[in-house]
Amino acid sequence: MKSPLLFAAALLAAGSIPLPAAAQQAPLKVGLMLPYSGTYAALGDMIEKGFKLYVQEQGGKLGGRELQYVKVDDESDPSKATDNVNKLIRRDRVDVLIGTVHSGVALAMARAAKESKTLLIVPNAGADAITGAQCAPNIFRSSFSNWQPGYAAGVVAAKKGYRRAMTITWNYAAGQETVKGFTEGFEKTGGKVVKDLGVPFPNVEFQALLTEIAAQKPDVVFAFFAGGGAVKFVKDYDAAGLKKTVPLVASGFLTDGTIEAQGASAEGILSTLHYADNLETPRNNAFRKSFALTYKQNADVYAVQGYDAAQMLGAGLAAVKGDISQHDKLDAAIARAKIDSPRGRFALSPQHNPIQDIYLREVKGKYNELVDIAVRALADPGRGCKL
Ligand code: PHB
Repeated sequence: MKSPLLFAAALLAAGSIPLPAAAQQAPLKVGLMLPYSGTYAALGDMIEKGFKLYVQEQGGKLGGRELQYVKVDDESDPSKATDNVNKLIRRDRVDVLIGTVHSGVALAMARAAKESKTLLIVPNAGADAITGAQCAPNIFRSSFSNWQPGYAAGVVAAKKGYRRAMTITWNYAAGQETVKGFTEGFEKTGGKVVKDLGVPFPNVEFQALLTEIAAQKPDVVFAFFAGGGAVKFVKDYDAAGLKKTVPLVASGFLTDGTIEAQGASAEGILSTLHYADNLETPRNNAFRKSFALTYKQNADVYAVQGYDAAQMLGAGLAAVKGDISQHDKLDAAIARAKIDSPRGRFALSPQHNPIQDIYLREVKGKYNELVDIAVRALADPGRGCKL
């Protein structure tokens, strides 16, 4: 006679004994579409590290499921974005999309996610339309909208008494929308933007524009650049002698993740963002310690956004016990999640963008240090979203 154990094994193999749901499930396929090359490469790397840190802290599982990663380098190139995202959806059949940094690439991801109803969590790109006109029940953001830090910087600059501002950025959605937010906050609080300057993304030939700033002598310059381009801009601004004559107020990405490479040229720069390195909360301290122990480097805002994308996915998967096919229940659970972020707790707006404090920070040595809360609990207006 067969042993009871062998008998059970035979039944199992024949599929006639139901297994607990979690044990039956194959690993969840996570498509990581991020820049791993180009001016935003370090940003993509930090998002992935933050995401994986949270998963590791949960014992390697979310909602009872192991994760399997499929990675694509999107090169921050919008012209390749639709092909790249469709490979993940159609060829690799990922269960969830995490990406990306660049607003133009993320807009293509959002279109594909909406059409295919694939869950998308955006861990950086601020394109306003993602949680505005292109919003969808299955699209979420763990980061910010371009409008948010821009608007807060405008309010801060005007409150400091600056009246005439010039802006400088890359000419694409992130730069343009951040400048638009700045202009709204600045002009509403009594300032006037006298000129907008721009270069194509990801160019770093700033000289002619810096000469123009020196000639016009505005009270303040507002800048949006990030990654490698931000390092070059901050150094060039200093080398042109402008740092001493025309104060810079920036979107915090200018000095986040870039501060060590910028060195003394960054010292003292004021910026607005939904994170500051030295938020003295148990949550932030534990996060930074865990990040530094795991990766031997300091966390930054991108690591936080990746970490929180994993928290949001975890909240959704917990509600459906790992069964990602229960779309409505999954989406609803993410939408109502309260995320215990290193930046501070946040909830999502009805359009699925974080409602969050925007901090005023100042560069001191290797850190973006908290000065004040620039705007408390700032919600993106979510213009054009119908959910
Ligand atoms: C964007 O393209 O939305 C973007 C890129 C880099 C940042 C922030 C926003 O640091």
